[in-house]
Amino acid sequence: MKIGIIVGTRPEIIKMAPVIRECKKRGIAHFIIHSNQHYSQEMDSIFFKELELPAPDYNLGVGSGLHSNQTGNILIEMEPILLDEKPDVVLVQGDTNTVLAGALAASKLDIKVGHIEAGLRSYDRTMPEETNRILTDHMSEYLFAVGPNQHAILAKEGIENDKIFTVGNTVSDSLFQHLDISANTSTILQDLAINAGEFFLVTAHRASNVDVPANLLELLALFDKLHAKYSQTIVWPIHPRTQAKLKEFNIELPEYLKLTPPVGYLDFIQLQKHAQLILTDSGGIQEEACLLGVPCITLRENTERPESIEVGANVLVGRDADKALAAADKWLMATNGEALSWHNPFGDGHVAELILDIITNSTPNTLEQEII
Ligand code: UD1
Ligand code: UDP
Repeated sequence: MKIGIIVGTRPEIIKMAPVIRECKKRGIAHFIIHSNQHYSQEMDSIFFKELELPAPDYNLGVGSGLHSNQTGNILIEMEPILLDEKPDVVLVQGDTNTVLAGALAASKLDIKVGHIEAGLRSYDRTMPEETNRILTDHMSEYLFAVGPNQHAILAKEGIENDKIFTVGNTVSDSLFQHLDISANTSTILQDLAINAGEFFLVTAHRASNVDVPANLLELLALFDKLHAKYSQTIVWPIHPRTQAKLKEFNIELPEYLKLTPPVGYLDFIQLQKHAQLILTDSGGIQEEACLLGVPCITLRENTERPESIEVGANVLVGRDADKALAAADKWLMATNGEALSWHNPFGDGHVAELILDIITNSTPNTLEQEII
């Protein structure tokens, strides 16, 4: 049994880390291919270091680019490696261009694909990730669904039941494995001169929010309204895409927005844990906020993670400032400082173990003959 593990961006490294560690622990032969879709130190190597991951066996060096260009380059670079390594299974995680290209490269070589975080749907085809998710699911032999909702979605799309495994989300493994370490080592609150429970945390990187000047300005107006009411510092570890767009559009930011470059995972856990409120368009942060008991305002019209809304941890506001204010009021005023809690729909921290149990129990090692 040999597993090919594909990563390319920050969230993939974080959510694949528990699988890599579990492979190592069990002595399962594996190799890591990094597309380098993310490559800046603060989006890439910092996570290998903090999560104590081995360096990738292969770096494809594709970098940034238009969608087809990036996806195509990953495909081209990936094929000879897969032909040479002959893995039994290739694992991809999430919905990025790296995921689509990795799954497609493997699928063309008749290598089984395991999709971690299968079955998520925003039903918004303007979102590039939605296409990536759907295509990857339909190329996969192992669909690792987060919960029953995703299982049902996949079954409804005609995917055979025996390919779908409801396991939870490896985001829970990573978070639970690093909570104490981050509490003991991170100095981010002191570094930013902020106090626990006295700031809001923001992230934004969706093309729909940051690539169009009017939309980015609308988002900033939303932050203005929140600040006008709550006078809180708003900490914003800014994604490089967003940073580039602010520069391109010549947008100046107000002082109450405390910008930092993207921070490491250990620091980001502490920022999330001690924020009064999180505002984000990130997928992973919606999950982590829910797991940490911190209310989340999602700066999108839809989400492929409705579970956090169902349990009362998350509200969709798009870029509507009034909706954001109403959500903030509900949580900050109604709870009067009391700790919030809700049912955790994202896994028990042992998801990677389940994934590897499933793969190792059922995959015959037949691929060598198939490829040759
Ligand atoms: C990508 C994924 C998105 C995921 C996000 C995680 C796709 C289609 N998008 O979006 O699903 O949520 O990663 O963060 O796969 N840049 C750097 N350094 C880097 C990486 C990017 O400066 O290390 C800048 C470049 O200007 C680049 C831009 O960010 O053009 C966007 O990067 P890209 O990987 O294309 O998309 P993301 O917005 O990061
Ligand atoms: N994250 C981080 N530092 C930051 C911002 C985010 O370590 O400055 C982590 C966060 O904890 C989560 C992941 O990055 O695990 C989310 O990545 P992102 O929002 O870029 O992608 P998405 O989840 O939307 O695909």
